[in-house]
Amino acid sequence: MHVARDIFGTVGEIGVHHGWFFAVLASCARSCDSLFACDIFGDGSLNVDCKGNGGLEHFLTNAANAGVNGRINVFDTASVFLLEQCDLPSIRMLSKDGGHTQTLTYNDLLSASRVLSEGGVIFIDDFLNTGWCGVQRGFSAFLVNHHQGRLILF
Ligand SMILES: C[S@@+](CC[C@H](N)C(=O)[O-])C[C@H]1O[C@@H](n2cnc3c(N)ncnc32)[C@H](O)[C@@H]1O
Repeated sequence: MHVARDIFGTVGEIGVHHGWFFAVLASCARSCDSLFACDIFGDGSLNVDCKGNGGLEHFLTNAANAGVNGRINVFDTASVFLLEQCDLPSIRMLSKDGGHTQTLTYNDLLSASRVLSEGGVIFIDDFLNTGWCGVQRGFSAFLVNHHQGRLILF
């Protein structure tokens, strides 16, 4: 759909862990799209819901196996600092699989929606996972406060 509609932009994920879904995302990126990967690889104390712990070496090995390691901007940071630290061009595909609390989900969606390109897509992991209700709560709060008809659910 993006190719047909000439939509370009950044492709990446918040919460890449070992990069399994990131490899899928990266395989959908064109050579002109920039790639980014965000995770708390270093300071585990920032991982407040303790869902997994990123492993940079493991991630880079998997990215190399997927053939995309040379072109990834890696951000070893909690997603809340992502937009402060970097100047991401408009995002056309973003997976949100970092912090799973209501607040973190809300903040990630808010940040992502501000840099999403027209026609851009946000994938939300664990949306129907009853073990992580914060994801759906954060999403609902985001819709109530910030939706403004811009995002379409599918
Ligand atoms: C469920 S795992 C992600 C799985 C991964 N998407 C995959 O395809 O296998 C969650 C990851 O989010 C990271 N994480 C947790 N809180 C985060 C935050 N606030 N910002 C960025 N990453 C975070 C964790 O370190 C962990 O690696």
